[in-house]
Amino acid sequence: MKPVQLAVIGTGNVGIRHVKAIQALPDTELCAVVDPSIDSLSGVDLANTPHFKDAQALFKEQRPDGIVIATPTIHHLQPALESLSHGCHLLIEKPITTDLAESQKIIDAIENTNQHVLVGHHRRYYAAVQQAKKMIQTGELGKLLAVSGQWCLKKHNTYYDPDWRKQWPAGPVMTNAIHDIDLLRFVCGEIKSVYAESSYQVQGFEKEDVTAIVMRFENDALGTFVLSDQSPSPWAWEYATDENPAIPGTGENCFRLVGSQGSLEFPNLVQWTSTQDGGDWFSPIQSKSLKNDYLNAFNAQLTHFANVIRGQQKPLITAADASRSLAVTQAVLASVKSGKRVMLG
Ligand SMILES: NC(=O)c1ccc[n+]([C@@H]2O[C@H](COP(=O)([O-])OP(=O)(O)OC[C@H]3O[C@@H](n4cnc5c(N)ncnc54)[C@H](O)[C@@H]3O)[C@@H](O)[C@H]2O)c1
Repeated sequence: MKPVQLAVIGTGNVGIRHVKAIQALPDTELCAVVDPSIDSLSGVDLANTPHFKDAQALFKEQRPDGIVIATPTIHHLQPALESLSHGCHLLIEKPITTDLAESQKIIDAIENTNQHVLVGHHRRYYAAVQQAKKMIQTGELGKLLAVSGQWCLKKHNTYYDPDWRKQWPAGPVMTNAIHDIDLLRFVCGEIKSVYAESSYQVQGFEKEDVTAIVMRFENDALGTFVLSDQSPSPWAWEYATDENPAIPGTGENCFRLVGSQGSLEFPNLVQWTSTQDGGDWFSPIQSKSLKNDYLNAFNAQLTHFANVIRGQQKPLITAADASRSLAVTQAVLASVKSGKRVMLG
């Protein structure tokens, strides 16, 4: 089958990962890259790939099948609308946009068209994630009672050199915890309310150093999640899965799901149950490691995008779905600001 033609707009940290994946996969072909900064193109072979300074220049010469948007979040909307107006399908990095008014513009732009927008919450492609979701849905842990999670690591200091990374839209809640929030919605169910507090004692930027979140799901399970980009701990998704070549993995789990009939360490899928039927705290608890292969989720996402473009699959995460993850993430920040619990519609 002919590979789909993809252009990448924004070739920084994550854009380069998309470029490499597109070049490596048989289903996708890189037809162009768009970035005003030439420096950010180093490290990959783009000798035969046309390079444009902005999306308008790209569309004067090409009409790719699909566009990957990996610009800073504050610059997602304009290239997204430009690309949609030229009939392209989109894979937009997460968060879909910085606010819901912007994401609604993207949702409106695809209404009554055959175009699709897939949002880059790539964790949904892991087999472990889909298996945990199935275990909750089929009641393998009994009734889901609670979940606790952490995303705590220390980002390198130069990461914060660009001014946009010091601002709240680039803080770890919006940039990183949105992955965990999307994952929790996907695996455990919709989130009904959140309460959160942040602290700023390390860097003193507008963006937070630490945030602690308490949440209630629509199924009445409760959750807690602690995140920080200022602590060298081993507990974060990237450490558990070894998914980012630049971040050495630890294999440590970062989520625990607790049910009325058993519990699950996640994403490594270690299931814990009582050794006795209806056992209580006097019965020994046993563990079982479930089979778990971590595939390359970026590649799986791009293969899915190619299938979506060809009309063979529906997007695993649409613009509307990603907007709900954005809404929960924004509710966390609203709760930090107001000091109050925020209900989600
Ligand atoms: N899925 C993930 O795991 C993941 C990881 C990191 C970042 N992200 C997301 O990816 C996006 C980019 O983050 P990053 O860390 O790669 O940023 P970055 O600053 O490293 O790269 C952004 C690039 O976009 C370019 N750019 C800026 N405005 C542009 C425009 N109007 N048109 C074309 N290019 C433009 C910049 O020159 C830069 O090269 C953000 O939305 C972020 O939240 C996702």
